[in-house]
Amino acid sequence: MSARDLFDLTGRVAIVTGAGQGIGRAFAKALAECGAVPVIAELNEAKAAAVATEIMDAGGKAFAVTTDVADPASIDEMIEAVTDEFGRIDILINNAGIFSTLEMRPFDQIPLEEWERVLRVNLTGPFLCARAVLPAMRQAKWGRIINIASGAVRLGRPNYLHYIATKAALAGMSLSMARELGGDGITVNAILPGATFTEIERKTVTPAQKERIIAMQCIPRAETPDDLIGTMLYLASPASGFVTGQTINLDGGVTSS
Ligand SMILES: NC(=O)c1ccc[n+]([C@@H]2O[C@H](COP(=O)([O-])OP(=O)(O)OC[C@H]3O[C@@H](n4cnc5c(N)ncnc54)[C@H](O)[C@@H]3O)[C@@H](O)[C@H]2O)c1
Repeated sequence: MSARDLFDLTGRVAIVTGAGQGIGRAFAKALAECGAVPVIAELNEAKAAAVATEIMDAGGKAFAVTTDVADPASIDEMIEAVTDEFGRIDILINNAGIFSTLEMRPFDQIPLEEWERVLRVNLTGPFLCARAVLPAMRQAKWGRIINIASGAVRLGRPNYLHYIATKAALAGMSLSMARELGGDGITVNAILPGATFTEIERKTVTPAQKERIIAMQCIPRAETPDDLIGTMLYLASPASGFVTGQTINLDGGVTSS
């Protein structure tokens, strides 16, 4: 394979869950710019359609499918729609999560229903989606699974224990999945973003906390989704074929390894 081909994503079909806004939206747009077809597998139908339109207006290809990653039947429908349309699934980015809408609270005040819902979407969702893409990836003997965890698991940030628990589990799950799938030509890696400031306002980081986070970074500016794209594209591309089971911190140097 030529050096140029190592980074060629032309025609690759990439499911990006939760791509209706924020980091997932940035990923979908970047994949389309590289010639891949992002599947915007998003719970919010209007937002999924808007991102697909945005991409197509810019000359790219995109496919929006309303999907609830907490619901196996909804995932099956999405996979069927993608398979019917494209006949292949090359890349899965498990990005959907209950995140920007989370209330911060001491863990002993988290209602059990909320705990279970966060686990269901943030952890069971990636498990269900990974399981669902396997037949297509195994048949092709090629696949890339990228789990979006969080650098917060390395910091022990308080007041959203359910979220932290799911993201730590995702990092662990990535290595074990990688061990099971290496022989099939499928890599599994986790990206651990630091506090990433998207177009969506959220309650999990106050302005004072934002300043403190930036002060902890080696690179002293706010992280944005653009800071995640290079690594995502690398992990999605043929270039990363021997990189698997890794958890990669993308936090401007707050944490190491
Ligand atoms: N922004 C950050 O600072 C940061 C840091 C570390 C990790 N992350 C992780 O990156 C990912 C994206 O973050 P973001 O800031 O864009 O989050 P966000 O909350 O802005 O967006 C999440 C998206 O997921 C969708 N979603 C929620 N539940 C879903 C479901 N059941 N099925 C399908 N889609 C669903 C939402 O509708 C939304 O479009 C999340 O997994 C988050 O935990 C974010």
